[in-house]
Order: sequence, then C-alpha cells, then structure tokens
Amino acid sequence: MSDLSLFDLTGRKSLVTGGAVGIGRACAIALAKAGADVAIVDIDRKIGEATAKELCGMGRDSFYVKCNVTDRAQVHAMVAAVVARFGRLDIAVNNAGIAILGADEAIPQNEWDKVIAVNLTGTFLCAQAEAQQMIRQQPTEGKIINIASMSATIANCNASYDASKAGVVHMTKTLAAEWGRFNINVNCLSPSYVLTPMHASTPLVARQRIRELTPLGHVERPEDLYGAIIFLASAASNYVTGHDLMVDGGHTLNAWLAPLGRAVPPRISPQQEVVQMKHDLDTMGVRYDKDGINPGLHPEIANAFKGMFGVKD
Ligand SMILES: NC(=O)c1ccc[n+]([C@@H]2O[C@H](COP(=O)([O-])OP(=O)(O)OC[C@H]3O[C@@H](n4cnc5c(N)ncnc54)[C@H](O)[C@@H]3O)[C@@H](O)[C@H]2O)c1
Repeated sequence: MSDLSLFDLTGRKSLVTGGAVGIGRACAIALAKAGADVAIVDIDRKIGEATAKELCGMGRDSFYVKCNVTDRAQVHAMVAAVVARFGRLDIAVNNAGIAILGADEAIPQNEWDKVIAVNLTGTFLCAQAEAQQMIRQQPTEGKIINIASMSATIANCNASYDASKAGVVHMTKTLAAEWGRFNINVNCLSPSYVLTPMHASTPLVARQRIRELTPLGHVERPEDLYGAIIFLASAASNYVTGHDLMVDGGHTLNAWLAPLGRAVPPRISPQQEVVQMKHDLDTMGVRYDKDGINPGLHPEIANAFKGMFGVKD
C-alpha cells in the first residue's frame, strides 16, 4: 500500500483569492480534495457562495468572504474573518487577477493602473496580511502560493499584464528569502492559456493553434493545476521556496516555427478541455455555444485573438 501522507492536507486551513471560478476554483477544489478546509475569497458574492457550497458538498468546511484584494483594509478584514472561522491560516493561494488587453502604444493609464493594482499590489497586500497571521500563530509556519503566469517569462499578453506577472514572480523570490526564517514557503505557480471564464471569448482558431504549439497537445484546463497546487501547499514542498512552477504542457519550451506533430492523441480531448469552463459559466449565468464560447464576455480578448489570426466577424 502506498503512503501519500506527504501530500495530505487533512485539517489544514486555507484561503483562495479569486476563488469563485476558473483557476481559483480549481485551486480550492484541489486543496479540498487533499483534505483542507477552504475559504473562498472573491469580489463576486453570488458565484463565491456557490463555490463555497460546492466545497461543503465535498465534506470540507468552506465559506465565502467578500474582499477586493486591492483594498488593504478589506484584505486584513478578510484574513481576520478566515481566522475567526478556522482558528488559523496554513495555506494561502493569491490568485485574483485580471487582464485588460490593448495596444500598448495607446493604452490609457487607468487601465495600466488597474491591472497593476489587482495583479501585483493585490497579491502583495494579501501575502503581507497572510504572513502576519502565519507569524502570529503557533506553530509559526505557512505556505503562500501566488498565481503568476507564463506571461511573467515570455512576452505574451500586453505590457501591464506581463509586467504585473513578472513582478509577482520576483516579489515571490524576495518574500521567500525574507520569510523563510518563519518557516513560511512562498512560491509561484505559472499556468499557460487556461480555459476559464477569462478565455470564454477566445476564438476556436486560437485554441487549435495552442494545441499545435504545445508538446502535450491540449489546451490547459483548470484541472491540470490540481497536482501542482497540492504539491506547493503540502509538506512535499517543505524545502521548495521562491520557485516559479510552470505548468504549461511544455508550451513555453521553445519558439516553435511549425506546428508540432503527434505520435499519439493527447490525453485530453477538445470536449474534455471545456468541462470546468462550462461549469463556471453556468454558475455565472453566462450563456455559451457548444464549444463554451461567448464572444461578448471579454470582447477585448476576443478582438486581440481575432486580429492575430485574421478572423472576421
Ligand atoms: N486563464 C488563463 O489563461 C491564465 C493563465 C495564466 C495565469 N492566469 C492567472 O490566473 C488567475 C485566475 O485567472 P482566471 O482565468 O481563473 O480568471 P477569471 O477571470 O476566470 O476569474 C477570476 C476571479 O477573480 C475574481 N476577482 C477579480 N478581481 C478581483 C479582486 N480585485 N478581488 C477579488 N477577487 C477578484 C473574479 O470575480 C473571478 O472570480 C489570474 O491571476 C490570472 O492572471 C490565468
């Protein structure tokens, strides 16, 4: 019989920001699968409460906390609410993030400021409040996981997004160096293109191109992050800190000139790619076509991809 207790999170107390849908919900499900109780932190009460209820259905304690991660007072009140319910905080996943796409020669400053405020400042504010709690409690220790992106490493999105994520990766290294003395591990997890509501408007031609340029051959799903999150949240990663764990199917390994061939079908079919995204869009009350696409949800992302691939409406 195998012993996987190294990955066991039974009784651990956790929170996930932006946890209502997408990558955040997947992180919450992964933590719950491994045994943790999980607070769902989000600006959207309706979908946040629905996800917390879903986790309770998995036999874990879960509840929703309303919080905008850009607001320091709300962030501190959020950590206090989690500790009031759970008694302590062992694991924090700082996932809340946004992208506002647009040509960088024209992007207005308020859009740049908003992306930096949520993705970089929000992640710092959360990490700081979480670390203060982890330092305060006995035994003093904890796991902080910041969701960055492959866009921290490659020029992929636009300047505000890419710079915010590169900032998250380097900030993580600094915090890891500072907080190791408290037995707090701080790491990043960097996905590639993940089929979440953020990508509900991305046209099919882009999904096919991603498959062709990804060695493992399918578009990333939120479920593909389960193992990495459990690793970074558990004792299995106790000597790993300041690391940026790329979970991208090999997408960023090279600047491919031609589509990659396949010897066998990818593990995941195009239908399986969209299962969680469709679930999330249902929770949000957003309609979609058979492929899970709603061009109106993120028109700016749809337009960026359409421009790239010469797709006409
Ligand atoms: N989807 C991708 O392809 C992809 C790839 C790499 C990294 N990421 C990163 O993963 C994270 C999650 O992305 P996603 O695709 O699941 O996004 P999403 O838009 O599908 O979901 C984001 C969630 O965060 C919440 N949120 C937004 N702003 C918030 C704020 N200020 N305070 C609290 N909650 C807030 C939203 O209500 C929503 O529930 C982001 O940091 C994103 O940059 C996404």
